[in-house]
Amino acid sequence: PFVYLNGEFLPPGRASVSVFDRGFVFGDGVYEVIPVFGGRLFRLAHHLARLERSLAAIRLENPLTAGEWETVFSRLVRENGDGDQSVYLQVTRGVAPRDHAFPAGVKPTVFAYAQPLKYPPAAAVAEGVAAVTAADIRWLRCDIKAIALLANALLRQQAIDRGAAEAILIRDGLVTEGAASNIFVVNRGTLVTPPNGPFILPGVTRDLVLELAHANGVPAREEPLPESALYTAEEIWMTSSTREILSITRLNDRPVGTGRPGPLHAKLFALYKAYKQ
Ligand code: PDD
Repeated sequence: PFVYLNGEFLPPGRASVSVFDRGFVFGDGVYEVIPVFGGRLFRLAHHLARLERSLAAIRLENPLTAGEWETVFSRLVRENGDGDQSVYLQVTRGVAPRDHAFPAGVKPTVFAYAQPLKYPPAAAVAEGVAAVTAADIRWLRCDIKAIALLANALLRQQAIDRGAAEAILIRDGLVTEGAASNIFVVNRGTLVTPPNGPFILPGVTRDLVLELAHANGVPAREEPLPESALYTAEEIWMTSSTREILSITRLNDRPVGTGRPGPLHAKLFALYKAYKQ
């Protein structure tokens, strides 16, 4: 397998980055994760649009055109044997002596690779997974897909230490999102997810779920979601590019609704799988 680094395709062992890269020293960069189904990049335009937003938010120019990105990803996917994969890409501000201020005239570091997609285990899909609530300790620009993921890693590990698969984050009494996913609840038959804004990542999977709901007559709303709504929800789901739409059937060691994945999950997951084909 090859990775892409600054214009070259190299075996991972020969790809190296300076210890003074600002990604390494400051976490100064942004990333994307793009799912690949049957060798096809899924919703590529949406991921590239979000990358553009993230780059603009941290005042970096996009180092590649959409066509160039696609050429890089296609080669990585092909080298990796097609099938279901995920493509990771990151752009950092580049290599410079350590100084918080932006360096002048530095080229960004551009890195991408593809790996086989690790689907959640079949039992997790069939029975749902556990989640716990946790205080959202992240910064105020969670809409930027920043590589600085210390808070997300701490929160995900906190969930795992409590036997759960995800942490559902609460800020000022409202649900924001998961440590690495967006959150939906079903409330009296209606799908509800928090609105986009500075406290959540505008998920590509989240967008698709809303699109599929609207196109198929499933009532769905984007509105602030109080933590208390989690405890009366009929269903809770998490969505992400790598976990797709996963039912959360236990929250803080109590069953959600019936404790089994619900009928609306079955419906939207079927629509999603049909769309993927
Ligand atoms: N993370 N919210 C956060 C904080 C995320 O990290 C992610 C995805 C999402 C879901 O976004 P999307 O549907 O576009 O994947 C929401 C990726 C998968 C990751 O960091 O590995």
